[in-house]
Amino acid sequence: MKTRILTGITTTGTPHLGNYAGAIRPAIVASREANADSFYFLADYHALIKCDDPQRIQQSRLEIAATWLASGLDAERVTFYRQSDIPEIPELTWLLTCVAGKGLLNRAHAYKASVDKNVEKGEDPDAGITMGLFSYPVLMAADILMFNAHKVPVGRDQIQHVEMARDIGQRFNHLFGNGKELFTAPEALIEESVATLPGLDGRKMSKSYDNTIPLFGSAKQLKSTIARIVTDSRLPGEPKDPDDSHLFTLYQAFATPAQLAEFRAQLLDGLAWGEAKQRLFELLDNELSGARERYHALMARPGDLEDILQAGAAKARKVATPFLGELREAVGLRNFR
Ligand code: TYM
Repeated sequence: MKTRILTGITTTGTPHLGNYAGAIRPAIVASREANADSFYFLADYHALIKCDDPQRIQQSRLEIAATWLASGLDAERVTFYRQSDIPEIPELTWLLTCVAGKGLLNRAHAYKASVDKNVEKGEDPDAGITMGLFSYPVLMAADILMFNAHKVPVGRDQIQHVEMARDIGQRFNHLFGNGKELFTAPEALIEESVATLPGLDGRKMSKSYDNTIPLFGSAKQLKSTIARIVTDSRLPGEPKDPDDSHLFTLYQAFATPAQLAEFRAQLLDGLAWGEAKQRLFELLDNELSGARERYHALMARPGDLEDILQAGAAKARKVATPFLGELREAVGLRNFR
């Protein structure tokens, strides 16, 4: 049997190194395995939860589509689509909303973090929290369960959501499966060394912390962003501790074992931070420069991207439409004839 692999990226910002190392690169590698059947998409309904700037969303959809293809995704081999082109997904979201426990969703990290922030500020716990944010994990469960994904390549911050999808799917199976597994139990696929790529300040690289390294900025921009990586105050010649340096963690995510061993030895030997940043720049620029050129060529051809995504949506709906029909029947929404 083929292994169904599925993952998505929220279209709210410019793709960064964390998205690439945590999700895009492992997903593309996994899609090349002989028995892989991959579904990769732009999570543009998820974007509406965090962003009310239509232009930003539209631009980000384009950038993320171009990023996947420039990074080596073969749109013929995988099913590549926009979430918002699959009407079966919001319909399934409702079916799942009716079985998802409110208590389960109360425990979701993103929602809890917003409540905690409000409480800290002495505000109403639910101030400014939309139903979209609260039920975000149900929409994500629909993304995953719609295609019965076995493996979901994600960074560590998404593990809880994949586990929730599993719980919601199993509850649905129990209630409506009649002994049959309607939904497969998905598993997060985590690449340990890059599961949480740090940003410029050492916290998780994230659009919301404004500490990202954009994936396809120019070489000049890449260099100046790397120059902003926070390091300790050890002087040139003083030994540096690689295990206490997020610059080293970033290097590690892209280096071969031999390059990494050499860099570690050089840091221990007192390599200056300025020199270390130059090494990181060279490593990243070498990995990204080919893809950067492809990215800019793709961004100049939005019509071609549209064609690719529409073909992907048609492929995805070939799976989604009949399966949703089965699910509608299972819950008691059957044709009278
Ligand atoms: P999003 O858009 O925040 O991030 C996309 C992917 O990038 C990973 N990632 C990271 N990995 C390592 N280090 C980091 N610093 C880092 N920052 C981000 C994320 O873990 C994620 O894998 N809800 C999801 C999108 C989504 C989805 C899905 C994913 C919607 N439906 C179904 C998988 C399956 C999100 O907001 O990811």
